[in-house]
Amino acid sequence: MKEYLNQVKYYITDTLISFSEEEQLLIKETIAKAKNAYAPYSKFNVSAGVLFNKKEIITATNIENASYPIGTCAERNVLSYFLSNYPQAKINTIAVYAENQSGKLKQPITPCGMCRQALLEAENIQSTNIKVIMIGNTSNFLVVNKCAHLLPFAFDDSVL
Ligand code: THU
Repeated sequence: MKEYLNQVKYYITDTLISFSEEEQLLIKETIAKAKNAYAPYSKFNVSAGVLFNKKEIITATNIENASYPIGTCAERNVLSYFLSNYPQAKINTIAVYAENQSGKLKQPITPCGMCRQALLEAENIQSTNIKVIMIGNTSNFLVVNKCAHLLPFAFDDSVL
């Protein structure tokens, strides 16, 4: 058997000034909206923000349900809204933030597997990279320059 290596480039920073002004606004807006999460079961509030057309921002949160599997993640909620309303626009950056019952997470939140698949599809639709900023406490960021980096060996439409 031959051995291969699949490497991913990622960035870590602890300062907001590592980001453009628009991305700083995206980060602030995404953090501010976590309080709107409907997460009475997990008490884990997640917020995801999309920066598109270089300066426009939309956000969404996770929305849970008494029938647990019906709940949806913040990332897929914001992507659904984006794709439904701005089908021609291109996403520049997505930010993700979460708080648990004790407040801000020490480590940046990373999207769940299902959301990674959805992020990849959004990236493939627009044929340009989408940067992902994963936020821990407000001075603790993990960054990848494209969604595909979050999902090695991904399934996509090229095999259909
Ligand atoms: N959640 C998200 O919104 N995004 C993720 O990437 C991880 C998990 C939500 C789902 C559920 O409402 C809560 O966080 C706990 O899993």
